Amino acid sequence: MTSPTSMRTGMCGEVGPADVGTKVRLCGWVARRREHGEHLAFVDLRDRTGIVQCVVDGSVELRTEYVVAVSGVVRRRPAGMENPALATGEVEVGDCEVEVLAAAEPPPFLVEDRADVDETVRLRYRYVDLRRPRMQANLRLRATVVGAIRRAMDRQGFCEVETPLLWSPTPEGAREFAVPSRLQRGSFYVLPQSPQIAKQLLMVGGFDRYYQIARCLRDEDLRADRQFEFSQLDMEASFVTQSDVLGFVSDAVLDATEAATGERPPPIAQMTWAEALDRYGTDKPDLRIETSLVDLGEVFAGTGIRAFAGPCVKGLRVPGGATTSRSALDALTARARSLGAKGLAWFRVSGDAGGTLEVDSPLARVLGDDERDGLLAAADARAGDLVLAVSDEHRVACRVLGQLRLELCGKPVGEGPHRYVWVVEFPMFEAIGADGHPVAAHHPFTMPHPDDLDLMATDPLSVRSQAYDLVLNGWELGSGSVRIHRADVQARVFSALGISDEEAESRFGFLTGAFRYGAPPHAGFAFGIDRLAAVLAGEESIREVIAFPKTQSGADPLTGAPKPLSASALAELGIGIVAR
Ligand code: AMO
Repeated sequence: MTSPTSMRTGMCGEVGPADVGTKVRLCGWVARRREHGEHLAFVDLRDRTGIVQCVVDGSVELRTEYVVAVSGVVRRRPAGMENPALATGEVEVGDCEVEVLAAAEPPPFLVEDRADVDETVRLRYRYVDLRRPRMQANLRLRATVVGAIRRAMDRQGFCEVETPLLWSPTPEGAREFAVPSRLQRGSFYVLPQSPQIAKQLLMVGGFDRYYQIARCLRDEDLRADRQFEFSQLDMEASFVTQSDVLGFVSDAVLDATEAATGERPPPIAQMTWAEALDRYGTDKPDLRIETSLVDLGEVFAGTGIRAFAGPCVKGLRVPGGATTSRSALDALTARARSLGAKGLAWFRVSGDAGGTLEVDSPLARVLGDDERDGLLAAADARAGDLVLAVSDEHRVACRVLGQLRLELCGKPVGEGPHRYVWVVEFPMFEAIGADGHPVAAHHPFTMPHPDDLDLMATDPLSVRSQAYDLVLNGWELGSGSVRIHRADVQARVFSALGISDEEAESRFGFLTGAFRYGAPPHAGFAFGIDRLAAVLAGEESIREVIAFPKTQSGADPLTGAPKPLSASALAELGIGIVAR
């Protein structure tokens, strides 16, 4: 129960049969008013906890969204008048005196979850939108999640430290927001993409278990899972290994999930990046989908089918997919091509009365009996299934089938259950860049796998790193790594990345310089709180768990930001605007 204040005795949604006969004073917004006979009106009074029906004098002017204080006595509703759809539906507040605290203009849309309102309008009037039960529940769930994370980190001996927002460029890879300096004209601060470097400096500073609910800012294209500003649980620890970090973070996310949903997911499984690619065709596997990729290389090792002559053949069983029409299969083939495959083989599986499986496919005539049996066995196919196969380079075959797996069998991210997985041993470099140097897959402070150090100069793309991701229902929830704390290893990584000594000194000199004064071995992690809260709230977009998000085009319809600055403000900052 919420404690009373000087203005109210309790909350609308908390009034119940136990209060019958009690005098109450409730405050809130008029959700609805209905006339009841000549002199009385029913007013549904709403606050954040819910709605209660009040019987008021019909002559008082009370319009929707007026803010009122209602004093009256709780009574049972007359038999037959109960409303089982309402938590307070057995009672009402009778003989009410009403005080209008603030009048209101008619709202731009109805304050109820069923109202289907354009998102820009919702954001323009976010303060009205936030009154809706869904937004109330989402932001409260977010607060519950953050509370549980803080408790888990505190319990594990982590110390919360705030790091600056006015900062210097950090090497996270996204475009940065710059802030002009008034006192040093022509110089800029950069808003941090993450507290990455600051937290590593804290390790040198002896804060061996740091965390922060950190605001991060990145000027990147906005999507359902991306905003310019977002929050991370950011953590770092010294004298730890990867498995210690995974343990700390697992505790925090499992606690948060339990606090938000009432159910604790099982301990979080781990798989290597190579395994994730091979079985799910992605480094963000959605483990809610039962089916996974299978290797058909052996089945088609000696095949005469030209389509299967590629270096690798992968298959995917689509449970219940045998009813897919020819035209849908043609569209699927076109989709596979657009994803980079040379083609897509399909097999519709049916069974006769005796239980023997039959295969319908454009390749059926050229498919040997052993190949057919091998295919069905490897895919574990049953009557009614569809089996898809792609032959290509391993990476291509896996990525294409992994994407089709999502498109054919996927569920919205917020739909339960909550399946976490750790993906470990990410490659150190993701590609060879235009300048001939490999591009870091995480950030340049990530420690290479100790067994692969010597491959850095000879075969960089096969170097594994000690970087790991946490994935939830197919969304990347967070990333981290064991960091380089030794100058010689850091120099080798900078050199592999094509970062010269001078560039390293000017960009990261303040970090590498600090390392000369005694850097402990350290490792850390950060996960997106907006993403975690969205999945736990069953939402598809992180905008639904952020009080004042930006639209897809980066605008804030409520305040009108971003806006031009006045000429005098620009002059003070020494800034001139150049037309494009
Ligand atoms: P990374 O860049 O992977 O790692 O970010 C960690 C997590 O932050 C969330 N996130 C975002 N959420 C919403 N909008 C965005 N634009 C956005 N960008 C990232 C994601 C992501 O997984 N410093 C490293 C962590 C470390 O190594 O300790 C980092 O920031 O959930």
